[in-house]
Amino acid sequence: MSEQGKKLIFSGIQPTGTFTLGNYIGAISNWKTLQDEYNCIYSVVDMHAITVKQDPAKLRSNTLDAYALLLACGIDLDKSIVFIQSHVKTHAELSWVLSCTTQFGELTRMTQFKDKSAKHSDDVNAGLFTYPVLMAADILAYNADLVPVGADQKQHLELARNVAQRFNQRYGEFFTLPEPYIAEVGAKIMSLQEPTKKMSKSDENPNSCILILDDKDTIIRKFKRAVTDSEAEICYRDGKDGINNLMTIYSMVTGKNFDEITKEFAGRGYGDFKLTVGEAVAEHLRPVQEEFARIRADKQYLKECYTSNAEKALKMSQRVLSKVYRKIGFVDAR
Ligand code: TRP
Repeated sequence: MSEQGKKLIFSGIQPTGTFTLGNYIGAISNWKTLQDEYNCIYSVVDMHAITVKQDPAKLRSNTLDAYALLLACGIDLDKSIVFIQSHVKTHAELSWVLSCTTQFGELTRMTQFKDKSAKHSDDVNAGLFTYPVLMAADILAYNADLVPVGADQKQHLELARNVAQRFNQRYGEFFTLPEPYIAEVGAKIMSLQEPTKKMSKSDENPNSCILILDDKDTIIRKFKRAVTDSEAEICYRDGKDGINNLMTIYSMVTGKNFDEITKEFAGRGYGDFKLTVGEAVAEHLRPVQEEFARIRADKQYLKECYTSNAEKALKMSQRVLSKVYRKIGFVDAR
């Protein structure tokens, strides 16, 4: 629990180029909403990103893009802290300590490690294996109460809880056990080409995925090609995965509910619907894109933001780390 009795939220996002519409609707717009009710700390996790091979120049620009995009999406630095993970050294330091309360067996059970080591079989590095320990350190360095994560990160969060619990048992109650935060309106955005799969920018088919920085023509073209079904009815129903996904997206960007959408499109065709959804999404993303362009071009401002926020994060996490060092028996450095 942090100042003013508000609960503390921590979440991280990898700097993998631009975000998808799925990231935006499913995660970042939630992060924005949470700012009013909680103390929020958000991190662009470049240290997690290097667990797979990265081009250095690209990683640098992707990290700045991600940072600027978070601000453009409405994360407000008067309310929240947003920092670049590698700027705050306590994460790596705490990660080492926690790796000594994490069991080898636990890490081998992580499904993401199994998936990623199969996918990057030429580079199954130790960082990929201990990735969840660094993630636990991110969260525990602030004694966060709540962590908004998608389904794919649940197992990692569970591990963070187990590691915290084991530390507490060994050294005395200290870490808060972080809870997953499940959004009330948790919308999962699916691929436009295979609507039973999650929208992902690593998809081979670029038409399956809308990127936040796609221009209007690209967005509309991708929606026009979206896979639907052989019926001609715009309603939310089991088995209509493509239409359900388009309805979800349209609902998220317009605020209309499914009944309203069904009424709006009664008697109209899928082509018409897809075009309308595309236009609505483009319109919804326009202010974010404009704001992104403005912030990203202002290098001085960006730098002020990420340096001052890293200082705040360092101060908070250093307090936790110092206590951890004392608890485990390290000699005070000062
Ligand atoms: N592993 C997360 C992902 O890929 C990103 C992440 C890193 C994170 N550290 C975190 C998420 C701490 C929540 C809390 O999505």
